[in-house]
Amino acid sequence: MCGIVGYIGSQQAVPLLTEGLTRLEHRGYDSAGLAVLGTTGLKVAKRAGRVRDLSEALPKRFAGKVGVGHTRWATHGPANDVNAHPHTDAKGLVAVVHNGIIDNAAALRQRLSDEGVELASDTDSEVVAHLVARSEADTLEGKVSDALSAVEGTYGLAVLHVDFPDRLVVARNGSPLIVGVGEREMYVASDLAAIVRHTTTVAHLDDGEIATVTASGFTTYRLDLTRTARDATTLDIDPAEYDAGEHESFMRKEMHEQPHAAERVLRGRLDERFGTAHLGGLNMDARETRAIRRVKILGCGSAYYVGQMGAALLEELARIPADAEAASEFRYRNPIIEPDTLYVAVSQSGETIDTLLAVQEVRRKGGRVIGLVNVVGSAIARECDGGIYLHAGPEVAVASTKALTNMFLGFALLALQLGRVRDLSIADGRRLIAGLQRLPEQIEQVLAQEDQLAELAGRLAGAESLFFVGRVRGFPVAREGAQKFKEISYRHAEAYQTSELKHGPLALISPEVPTVAIVPDDELAERNVAALHEIAARRGPLVVLTHEGVDLGGLPDGAAERVVVPRNERELDPILLVVPLQLLAYHAALALGHDIDKPRNLAKSVTVE
Ligand code: F6R
Repeated sequence: MCGIVGYIGSQQAVPLLTEGLTRLEHRGYDSAGLAVLGTTGLKVAKRAGRVRDLSEALPKRFAGKVGVGHTRWATHGPANDVNAHPHTDAKGLVAVVHNGIIDNAAALRQRLSDEGVELASDTDSEVVAHLVARSEADTLEGKVSDALSAVEGTYGLAVLHVDFPDRLVVARNGSPLIVGVGEREMYVASDLAAIVRHTTTVAHLDDGEIATVTASGFTTYRLDLTRTARDATTLDIDPAEYDAGEHESFMRKEMHEQPHAAERVLRGRLDERFGTAHLGGLNMDARETRAIRRVKILGCGSAYYVGQMGAALLEELARIPADAEAASEFRYRNPIIEPDTLYVAVSQSGETIDTLLAVQEVRRKGGRVIGLVNVVGSAIARECDGGIYLHAGPEVAVASTKALTNMFLGFALLALQLGRVRDLSIADGRRLIAGLQRLPEQIEQVLAQEDQLAELAGRLAGAESLFFVGRVRGFPVAREGAQKFKEISYRHAEAYQTSELKHGPLALISPEVPTVAIVPDDELAERNVAALHEIAARRGPLVVLTHEGVDLGGLPDGAAERVVVPRNERELDPILLVVPLQLLAYHAALALGHDIDKPRNLAKSVTVE
């Protein structure tokens, strides 16, 4: 949520910053801005809209070899030109870009205006520019340190100052900030995606750290300006992973990457001999694993829904009571933290503040938390006692696809390991391992059904309102399907337990309101089919995601479109039912002409509460 990029070196900064912002745009796309230090001092250009709007509107001679850029997702104040970053002090000496939330912004704004400062914007971030400008410290890092000593909240920020044209100062507390090392040039960014084409040698700042970055290197400090030891490391990353390649959108690319991503999360973790999984990162021995009496899964949005799928896997395979809860609600109900409960935080970005705060609440009360996280070294991964990295690769589209699939597989591995120190037999363990090994190929088969799904999606896109229904294992699948659909098509898509339809929502069924029904070949198939008849009797159009051989019980001709997905083990079937729902959402959004990777009002990585 919001993106920062900065450059200092011998090249012109503007093209590099603009390119970096374009690559960060998925993190926030309400407004964008740039500040550069050139021969004639500090110049700032910012405006509401996309990065391309900013680029087209840059004034002539907007140049410099030091600069910072920002792409914003509005929190304090509407998305307009004034609220866009960078923010400056009244004299235009200082420019600041900021990610995060300054909790005491109201008090600081009041204090500054009592001191006669005129604040130009509605934002919390602007106060930092004024505080830096008003500091009497004689170094830029000193001024930033002074300013931040008054600030409560989260930040990743970068500061330019006309009196210190040879440096950028950056700081981190709760919002990621990295320094990238080039050849006599340096970069800063909130996300590797912004700079990966120029350098993969980076240093990640820790919370409470400041760095001074010059063209030839960087120095890190604590907030009190005592030095810290931080080296840059070269990451083994292929920059091409951050490009959409031949795909017309990142979402499509990421959906099609799922078979390979699935192989990666399973690689080296399956033990056929003992019919179990090996998850060394959990940092728990067999005795500790056995002592777990309950599992509580915490995540937000799609990560919460896949958490519900994970809870079902844990209950079925390990016979441990398990449930998932929206991390955003968890800490506000003063949860009881039990020593024999294993808490599991699920997050693609590892930055979602609601999930991070839930983890901190658990740990503060002495609970044990493990993470299922995609981004290595992210805040949630670092905060947990152990975990499972998802190895899905960078996910750029706002709508999560491949990370979600790998979350499901991460839960399957966890359930297998917990199950095998309990009552899951070696035969069942091996059965599931064989199922997991078949999954990448079966995901490929579902992706090959894209044409059929695109055709169906085109029809669904015409409906203003839709239901997604499923039961037990199928219900979180329906929730995820509805989430994906509403997120990018902007159609009202409501998930319901199929069994609950007749208790109210059936009143809404009509020829104008289609239902997408999840009907796997399991113990509930017959009951699910009975509900389909109730919908068809009210002339509600039906799309049925099901397995070969499920008897739909003679629904009238044309009442239902059937999408058949490959069958795996029952416990693992949910993920094969999720993939066609991604394609349905994608093609509905495409048919409606929406910006698929950057849906309105949303942003990747929600770092505000
Ligand atoms: C849906 C989606 C969001 C995220 C949620 C959690 O497609 O992307 O609902 O799943 O914001 O994000 P992470 O997984 O980064 O914690």
